[in-house]
Amino acid sequence: MQVYEIGQRGGIDGLKLTERPTPKPGPGQVLLRMRAASLNYRDLIIANGGLGYAAGSRIPLSDGAGDVVEVGAGVTRVRAGDRVAPIFTQSWLGGEIGRHLPTALGGDIDGVLAQYVVLDADGLVHYPGHLAYEEAAALPCAAVTAWSALITLGQLRAGETVLVMGTGGVSIFALQFARMTGARVIATSSSDAKLARLGGLGAAELINYRTTPEWGKRAAELTGGRGVDHVVEVGGAGTLANSLAAVRPGGRISLIGLLTGFGGEFNPIPILLKSICFQGIRVGSRDMFEAMNSAIETAQLRPVIDRTFDFAEAPAAYRYLESGVHFGKVCIRI
Ligand SMILES: NC(=O)c1ccc[n+]([C@@H]2O[C@H](COP(=O)([O-])OP(=O)(O)OC[C@H]3O[C@@H](n4cnc5c(N)ncnc54)[C@H](OP(=O)(O)O)[C@@H]3O)[C@@H](O)[C@H]2O)c1
Repeated sequence: MQVYEIGQRGGIDGLKLTERPTPKPGPGQVLLRMRAASLNYRDLIIANGGLGYAAGSRIPLSDGAGDVVEVGAGVTRVRAGDRVAPIFTQSWLGGEIGRHLPTALGGDIDGVLAQYVVLDADGLVHYPGHLAYEEAAALPCAAVTAWSALITLGQLRAGETVLVMGTGGVSIFALQFARMTGARVIATSSSDAKLARLGGLGAAELINYRTTPEWGKRAAELTGGRGVDHVVEVGGAGTLANSLAAVRPGGRISLIGLLTGFGGEFNPIPILLKSICFQGIRVGSRDMFEAMNSAIETAQLRPVIDRTFDFAEAPAAYRYLESGVHFGKVCIRI
């Protein structure tokens, strides 16, 4: 079978198509024919040696969808022919974070950019039947992260206001889940053309963060000065001052991403003065993924896929994500 391997330090140039024997499922395991994968910003970070994973080659990417081909002894959770998606942290099935093993796909362990993979049956979920493979492959990291931030931990309610930043995978799922819940969305982007598309997805207010450097203040003004209830923070230290300006007293910031870089300083005083709930997010558990899938099925929600590349074009998919021109998810057909 064909798989990609990537050195976790060598950049996108380190991505190589190679042959490996097709694996066999052991007891409790499942052989999957992968049909699609999707990229996350994390996959660029890993290729460039970030996130502290061990150096060396690994099959990349955490997010995919495929067909069950064969099950090992004792597997009852799935059957041959089922369409499934792997969960991001294979050992985090439910409960609090921190009690699971280092089993994040495409980082701690081999990922899904391969024709076949073997995984524990416990690490798979059935996904909503209306979704194509690429759409299902968009869910495990970006969608579960947005779900965990806004719904599981954020307890978002209809009528509340959510601020989402940029037009990447996490932010667009956050917009969709917020709209699904009946919340109002204020969305930002560096591009007016992308802002128009965010409006089409139901964002009520649109701010270009390039031309409005004080976009946090502007977001607060757009709530009549009260401030937004939730901020889905994907920028990190470089955007936190604006997020803190945007959020209402007693509101919530979900710290998810570091698009402005790993370092940097910000003034934490507004956190205490405004009595803000500041929550870190690390994707989510299988339980969260399954709850999210039920909601997606009920709402017949469809992930926003920007572009799908062929398996042979995986390096081009990485470069496309790196360029930042995408709107939503970038996928690979396997
Ligand atoms: N903690 C977790 O569990 C978790 C899970 C998933 C992702 N993440 C992190 O969340 C972040 C987003 O991930 P992703 O996969 O959704 O990324 P992505 O799809 O690559 O999205 C990147 C988009 O973010 C926007 N952006 C870039 N710099 C920005 C800035 N300074 N201010 C506002 N927006 C900016 C851009 O949108 P425009 O072109 O519209 O400006 C860009 O297209 C990454 O840092 C990722 O590592 C963390």
